[in-house]
Amino acid sequence: MKIQLPRGTRDILPEEVQKWHFLEDKFREICENYRYAEIRTPIFEHTELFERGVGDSTDIVSKEMYTFHDKKNRSLTLRPEGTASVVRAFVEHKMFGDVNQPVKLYYNGPMFRYERPQGGRQRQFTQIGVEAIGSFDPAIDAEIISLAMNFFHSIGLKNISLTINSLGDKESRLKHREALIAHFEPRIDEFCSDCQNRLHKNPLRILDCKTDHEHPLVATAPSILDFLNEESRLYFSQVKGFLEAIGIPFVVDPTLVRGLDYYNHTTFEIMSEEEGFGAKTTLCGGGRYHGLVEEFDGPATPGIGFAMGVERVLLALMAANITIPKDKALDCYVIVASEAAELEAVKCIDSLRRAGISADKDYQNRKFKAQMKDANRKEAKYTVIIGEDELKTGKYPFKNMESGEQVLASVKEIVQHFENA
Ligand code: HAM
Repeated sequence: MKIQLPRGTRDILPEEVQKWHFLEDKFREICENYRYAEIRTPIFEHTELFERGVGDSTDIVSKEMYTFHDKKNRSLTLRPEGTASVVRAFVEHKMFGDVNQPVKLYYNGPMFRYERPQGGRQRQFTQIGVEAIGSFDPAIDAEIISLAMNFFHSIGLKNISLTINSLGDKESRLKHREALIAHFEPRIDEFCSDCQNRLHKNPLRILDCKTDHEHPLVATAPSILDFLNEESRLYFSQVKGFLEAIGIPFVVDPTLVRGLDYYNHTTFEIMSEEEGFGAKTTLCGGGRYHGLVEEFDGPATPGIGFAMGVERVLLALMAANITIPKDKALDCYVIVASEAAELEAVKCIDSLRRAGISADKDYQNRKFKAQMKDANRKEAKYTVIIGEDELKTGKYPFKNMESGEQVLASVKEIVQHFENA
């Protein structure tokens, strides 16, 4: 039987990888400008990390995790998201003791969720994201959102919208929770069994249930914004004030609760509104999480971050017809004009590469004309022809493929030409 890739996964072939490089480079550049440093955490973690961090009443933990037991019978899980791991690392390496607070980190890597695969939804997907841990300043909320918006603008995506909400602090959430239970309880038997279980465990989850999201009681559910206490209300209005001050338009949507349990205060999502991208699709989601560091036995520390799905961002770029610049072009193609010249051609190409110049040659024993064609197909900026006759003089025809201009030059002179360019 032919072996194919597992459902919900994809091969990313070289031509597409160029697009990934473009996004990753842009993201890295922007993160560095905002002074976020890269962190790399393991792809698998103890299952408990996500059960406690993401929350066992979420779909992610209850239905979508890739969990397995290792040879010592430890329960491990392929990470479904990055925040829990970053916070674990923050506590494990005692980053709360660093003089530089907040600790600002970014990451890029594969995540795993057992979901029903469809356009923009895979079982292995890639997130790029950031976390700022150690500050409860509304200016950081605006900074995080600005970083994401700036990234989208820098890659050419203009048709995007930002939705924000506040889930308030613990006190506000408790009051809202009681109101939600009172609202849903009388008719809870009209809801799916998951929602029935969620009612007393985590009624907020009913608002983002994939099965019941069209039930009329969801639309009329009490709004969290009516339950924010004074401190939470003030904080949210300061976040909005900063966003306005830096010219980032937003819409407030009190039903934006997000699918992970760790959130409080600010939550946000960024959607693509590009036509041909299907229904509005969330490119990026994030928010504040104030209990997470404590949950992993660190000192009470506020945090905020976001993650975006790289595959979805690429789909949005395609829908917007944005052409992505190709990776570095080929500087020089070395043409071997006779068998006796092969040794010199290999030496030439090696000298070029050692000097940091991109160079290629034929490895198929092609005839001269076919090598010329290959150089054109590979869009070489220059060619150099190493022939038997030229071996005597050590000077080879070196051609600028765009202008057609040709000179005789030694390998040393060719290398110098690129170095001085
Ligand atoms: P999330 O909303 O679960 O948040 O995921 C963030 C983004 O990852 C989504 O907006 C989407 O672009 C992408 N994504 C999620 N699931 C899939 C999938 N199955 N296939 C393709 N793309 C997907 C989080 O993961 C939080 N950790 C974000 C965060 C960071 N909050 C605070 N800090």
